[in-house]
Amino acid sequence: MLGKKLSGNNEKQEENSKIRKNISIQLFSNSFGEDEIQAIRPVFESRWTGMGNETKMLEKELGEKWDCPRTLVVNCCTAALFMSMKILGIRQGDEVIIPSIHFIGAVNAIFDAGAKPVFADVDIRTLNILPEEIERLRTENTKAVMVLHYGGHPCDMDEIMEIAKKYNLYVIEDNANSPFSTYKGKYCGTIGDVGCTSFESTKIMCMGDGGAITLKTDELYKKAIEYRYFGLKHKGQSGIDSFKEGAQKWWEIELNCLSNRYVTCDILSAIGRVQLKKADKFIKRRKEIWDTYQKGLSELEWLETPPEPSAGSAGSLLS
Ligand SMILES: Cc1ncc(COP(=O)(O)O)c(C=O)c1O
Repeated sequence: MLGKKLSGNNEKQEENSKIRKNISIQLFSNSFGEDEIQAIRPVFESRWTGMGNETKMLEKELGEKWDCPRTLVVNCCTAALFMSMKILGIRQGDEVIIPSIHFIGAVNAIFDAGAKPVFADVDIRTLNILPEEIERLRTENTKAVMVLHYGGHPCDMDEIMEIAKKYNLYVIEDNANSPFSTYKGKYCGTIGDVGCTSFESTKIMCMGDGGAITLKTDELYKKAIEYRYFGLKHKGQSGIDSFKEGAQKWWEIELNCLSNRYVTCDILSAIGRVQLKKADKFIKRRKEIWDTYQKGLSELEWLETPPEPSAGSAGSLLS
């Protein structure tokens, strides 16, 4: 009797595991199509594949979308995070407050600058930094706060900016997951001093690999241009690219500071330009999926689903 029951259970388990095997929920997939393929053809044909006009156009179009003309395209968001430390002059002895749930490359950037990461508690529902933690953890060595809009859910930027202003702290936004999230009508990544965005393979807008850095002031923007390419002085005529102005005196270079090479190439930027045009459609679809999950899961009494962004704001990765 018991043997029969056990074998019955085994059969059921086997059946369940067969079903489980057949249900695979894909969390992300690239959204490339013929348009992206067509967009890279002229780049190949131009015989210049490095950083050039496609990248410049992508910067312009992103700047228009975000209403932030001080936008530069870089090779990844991690590069932008490393650049942010240099641009803001964060160095040994400084402290940077960062949420305890963060991206590893962000902490690497802080350590690389010789500074100390100070970990802040997060809101249990959004997983975003609790603004009051900034006041609690701040010392006279604190130079910056690096916030992360977790899963595309905007942080409470009003409160964060107010505290930052009170203590003269820089605000860096890790905007990797939130390129099209908005906070009270402004795009995330354009509210703090520096915003760092990702266009890598799993992100909403994908270039294969890539990112962007947005800067609040002209001074920071100029520094970012230098730190993006070895620290060479920005003359608007670097000679490293196919920009029209690059043709002038390209042989004259001046090293202004020490940095790495964080540029991207026109093949990827051409893909990025197509993806940017489709971004609103991607967000709309994500919102539909989000709503389906929220509705379905809300029927489970024991389960708490993630909160909606506050009024006037919008999330972008999960919603
Ligand atoms: C929160 C966060 N920050 C930064 C990054 C780094 O982005 P990238 O791969 O473009 O360097 C990621 C990538 O997954 C991320 O999720």
